[in-house]
Amino acid sequence: MCGIVGYIGRREATPLLMQGLKRLEYRGYDSFGIATMGSDINLFKKRGRISDSESDAVALAGYVGIGHTRWATHGEPSDINSHPHTDCSGRIALVHNGVIENYAELKKQLVGRGHRFASETDTEVIAHLIEEHYNGDLREAVEKTLPLLKGSYALLVIAADDQRIIAARDCSPLVLGIGDGELFAASDMMPLLEHTERIVFMEDGDIAEITAGEVAIYCDGARVERPVELVNWCVEDVRKGGFAHYMQKEIFEQPQAFYETIKAGLDDHVADMIKNASEITLVACGTSYHTALIFKYLAESLCNIPIRVEVGSEFKYYPPPLKGLVIAVSQSGETADTLAALKMAKVHGCSTLAITNVQGSTVTRIADRTLLMRAGPEIGVAATKSYTAQLAALMELLDARCEGAFADVLSHAHLAIGEVLLRDIQQAVALCKGAEHVFFVGRGPFYPVSMEGALKMKEISYIHAEGYAAGELKHGPFALLTEQTPVIAVCPPGSTYGVMVSNIKEMKARRAPIIALGTDGDKELEEIVDVFIPLPDTHPLVQVLTASVVLQLLSYHTACALQRDVDKPRNLAKSVTVE
Ligand code: M6R
Repeated sequence: MCGIVGYIGRREATPLLMQGLKRLEYRGYDSFGIATMGSDINLFKKRGRISDSESDAVALAGYVGIGHTRWATHGEPSDINSHPHTDCSGRIALVHNGVIENYAELKKQLVGRGHRFASETDTEVIAHLIEEHYNGDLREAVEKTLPLLKGSYALLVIAADDQRIIAARDCSPLVLGIGDGELFAASDMMPLLEHTERIVFMEDGDIAEITAGEVAIYCDGARVERPVELVNWCVEDVRKGGFAHYMQKEIFEQPQAFYETIKAGLDDHVADMIKNASEITLVACGTSYHTALIFKYLAESLCNIPIRVEVGSEFKYYPPPLKGLVIAVSQSGETADTLAALKMAKVHGCSTLAITNVQGSTVTRIADRTLLMRAGPEIGVAATKSYTAQLAALMELLDARCEGAFADVLSHAHLAIGEVLLRDIQQAVALCKGAEHVFFVGRGPFYPVSMEGALKMKEISYIHAEGYAAGELKHGPFALLTEQTPVIAVCPPGSTYGVMVSNIKEMKARRAPIIALGTDGDKELEEIVDVFIPLPDTHPLVQVLTASVVLQLLSYHTACALQRDVDKPRNLAKSVTVE
Protein backbone atom coordinates (compact mmCIF):
# COMPACT_ATOMS: atom_id res chain seq x y z
CA MET A 1 0.00 0.00 0.00
CA CYS A 2 1.11 3.64 0.08
CA GLY A 3 4.81 4.18 0.62
CA ILE A 4 6.68 7.30 1.59
CA VAL A 5 10.28 8.44 1.33
CA GLY A 6 12.14 11.54 2.41
CA TYR A 7 15.66 12.84 2.00
CA ILE A 8 17.64 15.70 3.45
CA GLY A 9 21.38 16.14 2.93
CA ARG A 10 24.04 17.38 0.57
CA ARG A 11 22.97 15.46 -2.52
CA GLU A 12 20.26 16.35 -5.03
CA ALA A 13 17.10 14.87 -3.57
CA THR A 14 15.22 13.95 -6.77
CA PRO A 15 17.23 10.90 -7.93
CA LEU A 16 17.35 9.56 -4.39
CA LEU A 17 13.61 9.99 -3.97
CA MET A 18 12.85 8.31 -7.31
CA GLN A 19 15.17 5.43 -6.46
CA GLY A 20 13.54 5.15 -3.05
CA LEU A 21 10.07 5.05 -4.62
CA LYS A 22 11.18 2.26 -6.94
CA ARG A 23 12.25 0.28 -3.88
CA LEU A 24 8.74 0.76 -2.50
CA GLU A 25 6.99 -0.32 -5.70
CA TYR A 26 6.61 -3.85 -4.36
CA ARG A 27 4.11 -2.58 -1.77
CA GLY A 28 1.61 -1.95 -4.59
CA TYR A 29 0.55 1.47 -5.92
CA ASP A 30 -1.29 3.24 -8.70
CA SER A 31 0.36 6.68 -8.77
CA PHE A 32 3.37 8.46 -7.39
CA GLY A 33 4.87 11.89 -6.81
CA ILE A 34 7.69 13.88 -5.27
CA ALA A 35 8.24 17.40 -3.93
CA THR A 36 11.50 19.16 -3.26
CA MET A 37 12.14 22.25 -1.22
CA GLY A 38 13.80 25.40 -2.50
CA SER A 39 12.59 28.98 -2.17
CA ASP A 40 9.36 27.39 -3.41
CA ILE A 41 8.00 23.87 -3.35
CA ASN A 42 8.69 21.98 -6.61
CA LEU A 43 6.17 19.29 -7.41
CA PHE A 44 5.86 16.33 -9.78
CA LYS A 45 2.99 13.82 -9.51
CA LYS A 46 1.61 11.28 -11.87
CA ARG A 47 -0.94 8.52 -12.22
CA GLY A 48 0.52 5.11 -13.19
CA ARG A 49 3.74 3.30 -12.52
CA ILE A 50 7.12 4.98 -12.30
CA SER A 51 8.47 2.92 -15.18
CA ASP A 52 5.51 3.91 -17.42
CA SER A 53 6.18 7.63 -17.27
CA GLU A 54 8.89 10.08 -18.15
CA SER A 55 10.08 9.79 -14.54
CA ASP A 56 13.74 9.54 -15.54
CA ALA A 57 13.47 13.07 -16.81
CA VAL A 58 12.12 14.45 -13.52
CA ALA A 59 14.70 16.95 -12.29
CA LEU A 60 13.32 19.00 -9.44
CA ALA A 61 16.11 20.99 -7.81
CA GLY A 62 16.70 20.78 -4.06
CA TYR A 63 18.52 18.95 -1.31
CA VAL A 64 15.39 18.32 0.72
CA GLY A 65 12.47 16.30 -0.60
CA ILE A 66 9.63 13.89 -0.01
CA GLY A 67 8.02 11.25 -2.22
CA HIS A 68 5.05 8.91 -2.25
CA THR A 69 3.59 5.86 -3.96
CA ARG A 70 -0.21 5.96 -3.66
CA TRP A 71 -2.63 3.04 -3.44
CA ALA A 72 -5.95 4.84 -3.90
CA THR A 73 -8.45 4.85 -1.04
CA HIS A 74 -10.16 8.28 -1.16
CA GLY A 75 -10.53 9.43 -4.77
CA GLU A 76 -9.59 7.58 -7.94
CA PRO A 77 -5.98 7.18 -9.09
CA SER A 78 -5.16 10.45 -10.89
CA ASP A 79 -2.40 13.05 -11.18
CA ILE A 80 -4.32 15.41 -8.89
CA ASN A 81 -5.07 12.84 -6.20
CA SER A 82 -1.44 11.69 -6.12
CA HIS A 83 0.71 12.91 -3.25
CA PRO A 84 2.43 15.20 -2.28
CA HIS A 85 -0.47 17.50 -1.38
CA THR A 86 -0.08 21.18 -0.69
CA ASP A 87 -1.86 23.94 1.20
CA CYS A 88 -3.57 26.93 -0.48
CA SER A 89 -0.31 28.83 -0.83
CA GLY A 90 1.58 25.85 -2.30
CA ARG A 91 4.36 26.50 0.25
CA ILE A 92 3.66 23.49 2.46
CA ALA A 93 3.77 19.96 1.02
CA LEU A 94 3.25 16.58 2.60
CA VAL A 95 3.01 12.87 1.92
CA HIS A 96 0.81 10.59 3.98
CA ASN A 97 0.37 6.87 4.51
CA GLY A 98 -2.78 5.91 6.41
CA VAL A 99 -6.40 7.03 6.52
CA ILE A 100 -7.89 10.19 8.07
CA GLU A 101 -11.29 9.00 9.22
CA ASN A 102 -12.74 12.43 10.08
CA TYR A 103 -11.52 14.11 6.90
CA ALA A 104 -15.03 14.89 5.56
CA GLU A 105 -15.95 16.91 8.63
CA LEU A 106 -12.55 18.67 8.68
CA LYS A 107 -12.80 19.46 4.98
CA LYS A 108 -16.23 21.03 5.44
CA GLN A 109 -14.88 23.26 8.20
CA LEU A 110 -11.78 24.21 6.18
CA VAL A 111 -13.82 25.02 3.08
CA GLY A 112 -16.06 27.16 5.32
CA ARG A 113 -12.96 29.06 6.40
CA GLY A 114 -12.01 29.74 2.77
CA HIS A 115 -9.55 26.94 1.96
CA ARG A 116 -9.48 25.75 -1.65
CA PHE A 117 -9.09 22.01 -2.20
CA ALA A 118 -7.50 20.50 -5.29
CA SER A 119 -8.00 16.77 -4.67
CA GLU A 120 -10.60 14.30 -3.40
CA THR A 121 -8.20 12.79 -0.89
CA ASP A 122 -8.47 12.60 2.87
CA THR A 123 -4.82 13.65 3.08
CA GLU A 124 -5.24 17.17 1.74
CA VAL A 125 -7.01 18.34 4.91
CA ILE A 126 -3.74 17.87 6.79
CA ALA A 127 -1.91 20.33 4.52
CA HIS A 128 -4.61 22.98 5.06
CA LEU A 129 -4.69 22.43 8.82
CA ILE A 130 -0.92 22.83 9.02
CA GLU A 131 -1.26 26.01 6.95
CA GLU A 132 -3.64 27.44 9.56
CA HIS A 133 -1.17 26.74 12.38
CA TYR A 134 2.00 27.72 10.56
CA ASN A 135 3.77 30.77 11.93
CA GLY A 136 7.27 30.02 10.72
CA ASP A 137 7.74 26.93 12.93
CA LEU A 138 6.80 23.81 10.99
CA ARG A 139 7.16 21.41 13.91
CA GLU A 140 4.86 23.48 16.06
CA ALA A 141 2.29 23.64 13.25
CA VAL A 142 2.38 19.86 12.82
CA GLU A 143 2.14 19.35 16.59
CA LYS A 144 -1.00 21.50 16.72
CA THR A 145 -2.55 19.72 13.75
CA LEU A 146 -2.12 16.09 14.77
CA PRO A 147 -4.58 16.07 17.70
CA LEU A 148 -7.31 17.15 15.25
CA LEU A 149 -6.87 14.01 13.15
CA LYS A 150 -8.69 10.72 13.73
CA GLY A 151 -7.26 7.69 11.99
CA SER A 152 -3.78 6.57 11.10
CA TYR A 153 -0.83 8.34 9.63
CA ALA A 154 2.82 8.30 8.75
CA LEU A 155 3.57 11.81 7.54
CA LEU A 156 6.46 13.72 6.05
CA VAL A 157 6.02 17.50 5.79
CA ILE A 158 8.18 20.20 4.21
CA ALA A 159 7.74 23.96 3.84
CA ALA A 160 9.42 26.38 1.44
CA ASP A 161 12.55 27.97 2.88
CA ASP A 162 12.50 25.67 5.91
CA GLN A 163 15.53 23.35 6.04
CA ARG A 164 13.73 20.54 7.83
CA ILE A 165 11.50 17.58 7.28
CA ILE A 166 8.92 17.01 9.98
CA ALA A 167 7.92 13.36 10.32
CA ALA A 168 5.09 11.98 12.42
CA ARG A 169 3.74 8.52 13.02
CA ASP A 170 0.58 7.03 14.48
CA CYS A 171 -0.52 3.50 13.52
CA SER A 172 1.37 3.58 10.19
CA PRO A 173 5.02 2.60 9.95
CA LEU A 174 7.85 5.08 9.57
CA VAL A 175 11.59 4.46 9.82
CA LEU A 176 14.52 6.85 9.68
CA GLY A 177 17.91 6.05 8.15
CA ILE A 178 20.94 7.79 9.61
CA GLY A 179 23.57 8.50 6.96
CA ASP A 180 26.76 10.50 6.99
CA GLY A 181 25.58 14.13 6.99
CA GLU A 182 22.28 13.07 5.47
CA LEU A 183 19.04 11.54 6.69
CA PHE A 184 16.41 9.38 5.08
CA ALA A 185 12.87 8.53 6.03
CA ALA A 186 10.65 5.80 4.60
CA SER A 187 7.70 3.53 5.21
CA ASP A 188 10.03 0.56 5.50
CA MET A 189 13.71 -0.28 5.31
CA MET A 190 13.88 -1.15 1.60
CA PRO A 191 14.76 2.35 0.30
CA LEU A 192 17.32 2.84 3.05
CA LEU A 193 19.41 -0.30 2.59
CA GLU A 194 21.65 1.13 -0.12
CA HIS A 195 22.47 4.18 1.98
CA THR A 196 22.81 3.08 5.57
CA GLU A 197 22.41 0.18 7.97
CA ARG A 198 21.63 2.51 10.90
CA ILE A 199 17.89 2.66 11.40
CA VAL A 200 15.60 4.34 13.91
CA PHE A 201 12.09 2.91 14.21
CA MET A 202 9.67 5.68 15.13
CA GLU A 203 6.98 4.85 17.69
CA ASP A 204 3.31 5.79 17.62
CA GLY A 205 2.90 9.39 18.78
CA ASP A 206 6.44 10.39 17.76
CA ILE A 207 7.19 13.60 15.89
CA ALA A 208 10.68 13.89 14.39
CA GLU A 209 12.41 17.07 13.40
CA ILE A 210 14.91 16.04 10.74
CA THR A 211 17.80 18.17 9.51
CA ALA A 212 20.76 17.07 7.42
CA GLY A 213 22.92 16.39 10.44
CA GLU A 214 20.51 15.42 13.15
CA VAL A 215 17.18 14.01 14.12
CA ALA A 216 15.33 15.07 17.24
CA ILE A 217 12.29 13.03 18.27
CA TYR A 218 9.47 14.28 20.48
CA CYS A 219 6.60 12.44 22.07
CA ASP A 220 3.86 14.15 24.10
CA GLY A 221 5.81 17.40 23.77
CA ALA A 222 9.01 16.04 25.36
CA ARG A 223 12.26 15.08 23.66
CA VAL A 224 12.73 11.29 23.61
CA GLU A 225 15.58 9.01 22.58
CA ARG A 226 14.90 6.13 20.23
CA PRO A 227 17.65 3.54 19.76
CA VAL A 228 19.64 3.37 16.54
CA GLU A 229 19.45 -0.25 15.41
CA LEU A 230 21.65 -2.03 12.88
CA VAL A 231 19.74 -3.94 10.21
CA ASN A 232 21.05 -7.25 8.96
CA TRP A 233 19.55 -6.98 5.46
CA CYS A 234 21.73 -5.65 2.67
CA VAL A 235 21.17 -4.10 -0.73
CA GLU A 236 21.95 -7.36 -2.61
CA ASP A 237 18.91 -8.85 -0.91
CA VAL A 238 16.66 -6.41 -2.76
CA ARG A 239 18.17 -6.98 -6.22
CA LYS A 240 16.89 -9.58 -8.66
CA GLY A 241 20.30 -11.18 -9.05
CA GLY A 242 19.85 -12.68 -12.53
CA PHE A 243 16.40 -14.20 -11.93
CA ALA A 244 13.50 -13.30 -14.21
CA HIS A 245 11.35 -12.20 -11.28
CA TYR A 246 11.74 -11.51 -7.58
CA MET A 247 9.23 -14.28 -6.98
CA GLN A 248 11.43 -16.80 -8.78
CA LYS A 249 14.46 -15.65 -6.81
CA GLU A 250 12.52 -15.87 -3.58
CA ILE A 251 11.26 -19.38 -4.36
CA PHE A 252 14.86 -20.45 -4.88
CA GLU A 253 15.94 -18.80 -1.63
CA GLN A 254 13.67 -21.06 0.40
CA PRO A 255 16.19 -23.69 1.48
CA GLN A 256 18.25 -20.88 2.97
CA ALA A 257 15.24 -19.09 4.50
CA PHE A 258 14.21 -22.32 6.20
CA TYR A 259 17.70 -23.23 7.32
CA GLU A 260 18.50 -19.76 8.72
CA THR A 261 15.24 -19.59 10.64
CA ILE A 262 15.80 -23.01 12.19
CA LYS A 263 19.43 -22.17 12.94
CA ALA A 264 18.43 -18.97 14.77
CA GLY A 265 16.23 -21.06 17.10
CA LEU A 266 14.14 -19.67 19.95
CA ASP A 267 15.22 -17.46 22.80
CA ASP A 268 14.47 -18.74 26.29
CA HIS A 269 11.48 -16.44 26.80
CA VAL A 270 9.78 -17.60 23.62
CA ALA A 271 10.54 -21.25 24.39
CA ASP A 272 9.00 -20.84 27.86
CA MET A 273 5.95 -19.12 26.41
CA ILE A 274 5.13 -22.01 24.11
CA LYS A 275 6.01 -24.72 26.63
CA ASN A 276 3.81 -23.22 29.35
CA ALA A 277 0.86 -21.98 27.29
CA SER A 278 -2.44 -23.41 28.52
CA GLU A 279 -4.36 -22.28 25.43
CA ILE A 280 -2.89 -21.24 22.08
CA THR A 281 -4.60 -19.05 19.47
CA LEU A 282 -3.01 -17.98 16.19
CA VAL A 283 -4.23 -14.96 14.27
CA ALA A 284 -3.18 -14.06 10.73
CA CYS A 285 -4.32 -13.13 7.21
CA GLY A 286 -3.80 -14.59 3.74
CA THR A 287 -0.79 -16.81 3.37
CA SER A 288 0.12 -16.34 7.02
CA TYR A 289 -3.32 -17.68 7.94
CA HIS A 290 -2.52 -20.79 5.91
CA THR A 291 0.76 -21.38 7.75
CA ALA A 292 -1.14 -21.00 11.01
CA LEU A 293 -3.65 -23.63 9.86
CA ILE A 294 -0.84 -26.00 8.89
CA PHE A 295 0.62 -25.50 12.37
CA LYS A 296 -2.75 -26.39 13.88
CA TYR A 297 -2.92 -29.67 11.98
CA LEU A 298 0.67 -30.57 12.83
CA ALA A 299 0.41 -29.62 16.50
CA GLU A 300 -2.87 -31.47 16.97
CA SER A 301 -1.90 -34.61 15.05
CA LEU A 302 1.75 -34.96 16.04
CA CYS A 303 1.74 -33.49 19.55
CA ASN A 304 -1.88 -33.60 20.71
CA ILE A 305 -1.91 -29.84 21.48
CA PRO A 306 -5.23 -28.11 20.71
CA ILE A 307 -4.75 -24.93 18.67
CA ARG A 308 -7.24 -22.28 17.58
CA VAL A 309 -6.65 -20.28 14.40
CA GLU A 310 -8.50 -17.06 13.56
CA VAL A 311 -8.62 -14.81 10.49
CA GLY A 312 -7.33 -11.37 11.48
CA SER A 313 -10.13 -9.40 9.83
CA GLU A 314 -12.84 -11.29 11.74
CA PHE A 315 -11.14 -11.38 15.10
CA LYS A 316 -11.64 -7.74 16.09
CA TYR A 317 -15.37 -7.79 15.40
CA TYR A 318 -16.15 -11.36 16.46
CA PRO A 319 -13.47 -12.15 19.03
CA PRO A 320 -13.32 -15.70 20.33
CA PRO A 321 -13.10 -16.22 24.11
CA LEU A 322 -9.58 -15.00 24.80
CA LYS A 323 -7.19 -16.74 27.16
CA GLY A 324 -3.62 -17.99 27.19
CA LEU A 325 -1.13 -17.26 24.43
CA VAL A 326 -2.03 -15.40 21.23
CA ILE A 327 0.44 -15.65 18.35
CA ALA A 328 0.22 -13.09 15.55
CA VAL A 329 1.77 -14.37 12.32
CA SER A 330 2.64 -11.68 9.77
CA GLN A 331 5.45 -11.50 7.23
CA SER A 332 5.37 -7.71 7.05
CA GLY A 333 4.41 -7.10 10.66
CA GLU A 334 2.17 -4.29 9.37
CA THR A 335 -1.09 -6.01 8.39
CA ALA A 336 -3.80 -3.82 9.95
CA ASP A 337 -6.24 -6.67 10.66
CA THR A 338 -3.61 -8.77 12.39
CA LEU A 339 -2.43 -5.80 14.44
CA ALA A 340 -5.99 -4.95 15.50
CA ALA A 341 -6.49 -8.55 16.65
CA LEU A 342 -3.23 -8.52 18.57
CA LYS A 343 -4.18 -5.30 20.37
CA MET A 344 -7.49 -6.86 21.35
CA ALA A 345 -5.68 -9.93 22.71
CA LYS A 346 -3.57 -7.64 24.88
CA VAL A 347 -6.64 -5.85 26.19
CA HIS A 348 -7.92 -9.28 27.29
CA GLY A 349 -4.71 -9.93 29.20
CA CYS A 350 -3.36 -12.66 26.92
CA SER A 351 0.35 -13.10 26.56
CA THR A 352 1.35 -12.30 22.98
CA LEU A 353 3.98 -13.45 20.54
CA ALA A 354 4.71 -12.03 17.08
CA ILE A 355 6.16 -14.13 14.28
CA THR A 356 7.40 -11.76 11.61
CA ASN A 357 10.07 -11.26 9.00
CA VAL A 358 10.61 -7.55 9.59
CA GLN A 359 12.74 -6.30 12.42
CA GLY A 360 11.22 -3.23 14.08
CA SER A 361 7.83 -3.67 12.38
CA THR A 362 4.69 -2.61 14.22
CA VAL A 363 3.78 -6.12 15.33
CA THR A 364 7.10 -6.34 17.20
CA ARG A 365 6.22 -3.13 19.05
CA ILE A 366 2.88 -4.48 20.22
CA ALA A 367 3.60 -8.11 21.10
CA ASP A 368 5.26 -9.11 24.37
CA ARG A 369 7.85 -11.14 22.47
CA THR A 370 8.96 -11.61 18.86
CA LEU A 371 10.17 -14.62 16.96
CA LEU A 372 11.96 -13.24 13.92
CA MET A 373 11.91 -15.29 10.73
CA ARG A 374 15.12 -15.15 8.71
CA ALA A 375 13.76 -15.00 5.17
CA GLY A 376 15.45 -11.73 4.20
CA PRO A 377 13.43 -9.07 2.36
CA GLU A 378 10.57 -10.41 0.26
CA ILE A 379 9.74 -8.13 -2.68
CA GLY A 380 7.34 -10.22 -4.77
CA VAL A 381 3.76 -9.55 -3.69
CA ALA A 382 3.12 -13.28 -3.51
CA ALA A 383 4.48 -14.68 -0.28
CA THR A 384 6.87 -17.58 -0.90
CA LYS A 385 10.04 -17.64 1.15
CA SER A 386 8.28 -15.88 4.02
CA TYR A 387 5.70 -18.71 4.02
CA THR A 388 8.47 -21.29 4.30
CA ALA A 389 10.29 -19.29 6.98
CA GLN A 390 7.01 -18.92 8.89
CA LEU A 391 6.63 -22.68 8.79
CA ALA A 392 10.20 -22.98 10.06
CA ALA A 393 9.41 -20.67 12.98
CA LEU A 394 6.17 -22.51 13.78
CA MET A 395 7.88 -25.90 13.52
CA GLU A 396 10.52 -24.61 15.95
CA LEU A 397 7.74 -23.81 18.40
CA LEU A 398 6.32 -27.29 17.93
CA ASP A 399 9.73 -28.80 18.49
CA ALA A 400 10.20 -26.80 21.71
CA ARG A 401 6.79 -27.85 22.98
CA CYS A 402 7.60 -31.50 22.18
CA GLU A 403 11.04 -31.31 23.80
CA GLY A 404 13.17 -31.57 20.71
CA ALA A 405 11.27 -34.42 19.06
CA PHE A 406 11.69 -32.90 15.58
CA ALA A 407 15.13 -31.30 15.88
CA ASP A 408 16.82 -33.80 13.60
CA VAL A 409 14.12 -33.63 10.92
CA LEU A 410 14.16 -29.82 10.94
CA SER A 411 17.91 -29.57 10.67
CA HIS A 412 17.85 -31.45 7.35
CA ALA A 413 14.57 -30.22 5.85
CA HIS A 414 16.22 -27.53 3.72
CA LEU A 415 17.88 -30.27 1.63
CA ALA A 416 14.52 -31.69 0.57
CA ILE A 417 13.25 -28.19 -0.27
CA GLY A 418 16.31 -27.71 -2.48
CA GLU A 419 15.65 -31.04 -4.19
CA VAL A 420 12.16 -30.12 -5.45
CA LEU A 421 13.15 -26.72 -6.83
CA LEU A 422 14.19 -28.32 -10.10
CA ARG A 423 11.16 -30.58 -10.62
CA ASP A 424 9.89 -30.66 -14.19
CA ILE A 425 6.32 -29.38 -13.98
CA GLN A 426 5.78 -28.31 -17.59
CA GLN A 427 2.99 -30.86 -18.24
CA ALA A 428 1.12 -29.58 -15.19
CA VAL A 429 1.59 -25.98 -16.34
CA ALA A 430 0.24 -26.91 -19.77
CA LEU A 431 -2.95 -28.25 -18.14
CA CYS A 432 -3.43 -25.23 -15.87
CA LYS A 433 -2.65 -22.34 -18.19
CA GLY A 434 -5.71 -22.94 -20.39
CA ALA A 435 -8.10 -23.52 -17.50
CA GLU A 436 -10.67 -21.10 -16.18
CA HIS A 437 -11.02 -22.92 -12.85
CA VAL A 438 -8.59 -25.08 -10.91
CA PHE A 439 -9.09 -27.04 -7.69
CA PHE A 440 -6.40 -27.86 -5.17
CA VAL A 441 -7.21 -30.66 -2.73
CA GLY A 442 -5.55 -32.37 0.20
CA ARG A 443 -6.28 -33.77 3.63
CA GLY A 444 -4.94 -32.89 7.09
CA PRO A 445 -2.11 -30.35 6.82
CA PHE A 446 -2.28 -30.75 3.05
CA TYR A 447 -5.70 -29.10 3.09
CA PRO A 448 -4.24 -25.69 4.09
CA VAL A 449 -1.29 -26.47 1.79
CA SER A 450 -3.92 -26.75 -0.97
CA MET A 451 -5.57 -23.49 0.14
CA GLU A 452 -2.22 -21.80 -0.17
CA GLY A 453 -1.65 -23.39 -3.60
CA ALA A 454 -4.98 -21.97 -4.74
CA LEU A 455 -4.29 -18.52 -3.29
CA LYS A 456 -0.97 -18.40 -5.13
CA MET A 457 -2.60 -19.48 -8.39
CA LYS A 458 -5.35 -16.83 -8.10
CA GLU A 459 -3.13 -13.99 -7.11
CA ILE A 460 -0.49 -14.24 -9.81
CA SER A 461 -2.10 -16.10 -12.73
CA TYR A 462 -5.66 -14.67 -12.28
CA ILE A 463 -7.07 -18.18 -12.81
CA HIS A 464 -9.92 -18.90 -10.45
CA ALA A 465 -8.68 -21.48 -7.96
CA GLU A 466 -10.12 -23.06 -4.82
CA GLY A 467 -8.37 -25.03 -2.10
CA TYR A 468 -10.56 -27.76 -0.64
CA ALA A 469 -10.43 -30.59 1.85
CA ALA A 470 -10.37 -33.48 -0.61
CA GLY A 471 -13.48 -35.12 0.87
CA GLU A 472 -15.53 -31.94 0.48
CA LEU A 473 -15.52 -31.70 -3.30
CA LYS A 474 -18.38 -34.16 -3.63
CA HIS A 475 -20.56 -31.96 -1.42
CA GLY A 476 -21.05 -29.35 -4.16
CA PRO A 477 -17.99 -28.46 -6.22
CA PHE A 478 -18.27 -31.75 -8.16
CA ALA A 479 -20.87 -29.91 -10.23
CA LEU A 480 -18.03 -27.82 -11.66
CA LEU A 481 -15.75 -30.69 -12.68
CA THR A 482 -15.24 -31.15 -16.42
CA GLU A 483 -12.34 -32.13 -18.65
CA GLN A 484 -11.37 -28.43 -18.54
CA THR A 485 -11.11 -28.25 -14.74
CA PRO A 486 -7.77 -29.58 -13.52
CA VAL A 487 -7.56 -30.82 -9.94
CA ILE A 488 -4.23 -30.71 -8.17
CA ALA A 489 -4.21 -33.37 -5.47
CA VAL A 490 -1.56 -33.59 -2.76
CA CYS A 491 -1.37 -37.27 -1.90
CA PRO A 492 1.52 -38.27 0.36
CA PRO A 493 1.70 -41.66 2.10
CA GLY A 494 0.13 -42.02 5.53
CA SER A 495 -3.26 -42.60 7.09
CA THR A 496 -5.18 -40.58 4.47
CA TYR A 497 -3.48 -42.09 1.42
CA GLY A 498 -6.18 -44.69 0.70
CA VAL A 499 -9.07 -42.28 0.97
CA MET A 500 -7.20 -39.71 -1.13
CA VAL A 501 -6.76 -42.29 -3.89
CA SER A 502 -10.52 -42.99 -3.75
CA ASN A 503 -11.25 -39.25 -3.94
CA ILE A 504 -8.95 -38.93 -6.94
CA LYS A 505 -10.75 -41.79 -8.71
CA GLU A 506 -14.11 -40.09 -8.05
CA MET A 507 -12.80 -36.87 -9.61
CA LYS A 508 -11.34 -38.75 -12.56
CA ALA A 509 -14.75 -40.35 -13.08
CA ARG A 510 -16.08 -36.77 -13.53
CA ARG A 511 -13.45 -36.35 -16.27
CA ALA A 512 -11.32 -33.81 -14.38
CA PRO A 513 -7.64 -34.02 -15.34
CA ILE A 514 -5.65 -34.85 -12.20
CA ILE A 515 -2.22 -33.54 -11.33
CA ALA A 516 -0.99 -35.46 -8.29
CA LEU A 517 1.89 -34.71 -5.95
CA GLY A 518 2.93 -38.00 -4.39
CA THR A 519 5.96 -39.83 -3.11
CA ASP A 520 8.68 -40.69 -5.55
CA GLY A 521 8.15 -44.28 -6.72
CA ASP A 522 4.40 -44.39 -6.02
CA LYS A 523 3.44 -46.33 -9.16
CA GLU A 524 -0.17 -46.92 -8.04
CA LEU A 525 -0.82 -43.18 -7.94
CA GLU A 526 1.20 -42.45 -11.05
CA GLU A 527 -0.95 -44.85 -13.06
CA ILE A 528 -4.31 -43.33 -12.19
CA VAL A 529 -3.48 -39.65 -12.67
CA ASP A 530 -2.74 -37.53 -15.73
CA VAL A 531 0.40 -35.86 -14.38
CA PHE A 532 2.46 -37.18 -11.50
CA ILE A 533 4.94 -34.93 -9.68
CA PRO A 534 7.22 -36.90 -7.35
CA LEU A 535 8.20 -35.59 -3.92
CA PRO A 536 11.04 -36.98 -1.81
CA ASP A 537 10.07 -39.68 0.67
CA THR A 538 10.39 -37.74 3.92
CA HIS A 539 8.85 -36.94 7.31
CA PRO A 540 5.34 -35.36 7.20
CA LEU A 541 6.75 -32.01 8.39
CA VAL A 542 9.01 -31.96 5.35
CA GLN A 543 6.33 -33.19 2.94
CA VAL A 544 4.35 -30.07 3.82
CA LEU A 545 7.30 -27.95 2.74
CA THR A 546 8.15 -29.78 -0.47
CA ALA A 547 4.52 -29.96 -1.62
CA SER A 548 4.11 -26.22 -0.97
CA VAL A 549 7.21 -25.35 -2.99
CA VAL A 550 6.01 -27.41 -5.97
CA LEU A 551 2.66 -25.62 -5.85
CA GLN A 552 4.43 -22.25 -5.79
CA LEU A 553 6.41 -23.28 -8.87
CA LEU A 554 3.21 -24.39 -10.61
CA SER A 555 1.60 -20.98 -10.06
CA TYR A 556 4.76 -19.15 -10.98
CA HIS A 557 5.27 -20.95 -14.30
CA THR A 558 1.56 -20.80 -15.13
CA ALA A 559 1.57 -17.03 -14.53
CA CYS A 560 4.71 -16.66 -16.66
CA ALA A 561 3.10 -18.70 -19.46
CA LEU A 562 0.16 -16.30 -19.34
CA GLN A 563 2.55 -13.32 -19.28
CA ARG A 564 1.22 -11.94 -16.03
CA ASP A 565 2.95 -9.28 -13.98
CA VAL A 566 4.20 -11.90 -11.53
CA ASP A 567 5.85 -9.63 -8.98
CA LYS A 568 3.16 -6.97 -8.96
CA PRO A 569 -0.19 -8.65 -9.62
CA ARG A 570 -3.08 -6.34 -10.33
CA ASN A 571 -5.02 -4.76 -7.46
CA LEU A 572 -2.81 -6.25 -4.76
CA ALA A 573 -0.49 -4.71 -2.21
CA LYS A 574 2.33 -6.43 -0.40
CA SER A 575 1.59 -4.86 2.92
CA VAL A 576 -2.10 -4.37 3.69
CA THR A 577 -2.13 -1.51 6.16
CA VAL A 578 -5.86 -0.71 6.12
CA GLU A 579 -8.64 -2.78 7.68
O1 M6R B 1 2.41 -9.47 5.92
P1 M6R B 1 1.36 -10.50 6.26
O2 M6R B 1 1.91 -11.85 6.37
O3 M6R B 1 0.56 -10.12 7.48
O4 M6R B 1 0.37 -10.47 5.02
C1 M6R B 1 -0.84 -11.17 5.03
C2 M6R B 1 -1.40 -11.29 3.63
O5 M6R B 1 -1.72 -10.04 3.12
C3 M6R B 1 -0.40 -11.97 2.67
O6 M6R B 1 0.00 -13.20 3.17
C4 M6R B 1 -1.02 -12.18 1.28
O7 M6R B 1 -2.08 -13.07 1.36
C5 M6R B 1 0.06 -12.66 0.33
N1 M6R B 1 0.31 -11.69 -0.69
C6 M6R B 1 -0.28 -13.91 -0.39
O8 M6R B 1 0.75 -14.31 -1.23
